[in-house]
Order: sequence, then C-alpha cells, then structure tokens
Amino acid sequence: MPKVTFKNTGASAEVADGKMLKEVTKENNWSVAYGCEDGMCGTCMVKVVEGQANVSPMEDKERETITVMGMDASVYRLCCQCKINGDCTIEQ
Ligand code: FES
Repeated sequence: MPKVTFKNTGASAEVADGKMLKEVTKENNWSVAYGCEDGMCGTCMVKVVEGQANVSPMEDKERETITVMGMDASVYRLCCQCKINGDCTIEQ
C-alpha cells in the first residue's frame, strides 16, 4: 500500500492505491484547508516534496489553477484533484 507522509507534522498513513489525496488529508486530520473541492480555488494546494511520479497525472484544470496562482505545477498539486499511486511526501 502506498504511504503518504505529511511533512509539516511527520505523520504518515498507508492508503489504498488510487485514493484521492483529499480523502487522505481529511481522514487523518491533516491541516489542509478546502474550498471548492473542484480544482478551481487553489485552497488545497500542497507541495509534493518527494514522489512526484507517484501521484496521478495532472489535468488541464488543475495545471491552470496552480499556474494562475504563480506556483510551479511540477511540484505543487491540488489535494482535491490528485490520486495516490505510490509513496509520496507532501508539505503545505
Ligand atoms: S479545494 Fe479548491 S482547488 Fe482544491
């Protein structure tokens, strides 16, 4: 099972392959805030500091939101838009 680590606290969780990152943060009470939950507001943006290749490919809507906010879409992701496919570490 993939392991997701929340660098801010050092907490980690083993999750089912393909689980939404949004669900991981909510179920583990990690302090990620949400707004639209539809990839539009950018509130749930986190930096994937390790394992960028282990989260689902980015779709255009997510890339546009991150880019409009002036952030680097190669390392930042929206928790409400990506799925976990392997070990990764996120940081807010
Ligand atoms: S909650 Fe709005 S982009 Fe994720």
